[in-house]
Amino acid sequence: MDDLGSVPWPPEPIRTERLVLRRPEARDRAAFVELLASPQVHTYLGGPRPRDEVERELSGAPEQWPGSFAVELDGSMIGHVLLRRATGHRRPAAAGKADLGYLFLPRAWGRGYAAEACAAALGWLAGVLPGEPVVLTTQSANAASMRLAAKLGFTEVERFEAWGSEQWLGMRSPVTPSG
Ligand SMILES: CC(C)(COP(=O)(O)OP(=O)(O)OC[C@H]1O[C@@H](n2cnc3c(N)ncnc32)[C@H](O)[C@@H]1OP(=O)(O)O)[C@@H](O)C(=O)NCCC(=O)NCCS
Repeated sequence: MDDLGSVPWPPEPIRTERLVLRRPEARDRAAFVELLASPQVHTYLGGPRPRDEVERELSGAPEQWPGSFAVELDGSMIGHVLLRRATGHRRPAAAGKADLGYLFLPRAWGRGYAAEACAAALGWLAGVLPGEPVVLTTQSANAASMRLAAKLGFTEVERFEAWGSEQWLGMRSPVTPSG
């Protein structure tokens, strides 16, 4: 996985009804540690990383690359939305395409924040890279993620076995169907 490369970055903060999407900043470090070391967040992502390892490795201003959005609610980071380039993806249908990922703190689940933030990030992508399809890979057992993918307009390309479980590869076409 690579970053998106030469897109205008960082954008002006993107404001949605309840959230702000912006480049991560040093003040988000604690939230990133929580996200990366949370067993709940990593249930379907191969397990969490040891907190002390994450603490050691995270730089002062973490995850600052084009397509990396900190999602803020009332001034605090609640999630990370990642738009990357799926170079080296093991499935040919996804290789080289723009790829969406999302991780939210458990206390922010179940309120529609992930859907609101991802829709805004996809809107940003459509502005800077018009006409690009976007892919998404998630474990098919990750029910919340599967629901979110469907809500965002991703449809199934294929399922495949990897990392010891069934994975779902979805794609969202650049033209949003009307209605
Ligand atoms: C995947 C993940 C982001 C989904 O988060 P989420 O909060 O369930 O997703 P949404 O933002 O779409 O919220 C949907 C829920 O909010 C509820 N909701 C409450 N208020 C709402 C509102 N105002 N608007 C929309 N939905 C609302 C919906 O009913 C829905 O509940 P349901 O899932 O029980 O049906 C979250 O589970 C997560 O971070 N998991 C760990 C990381 C991960 O596995 N990522 C996948 C790898 S790509």
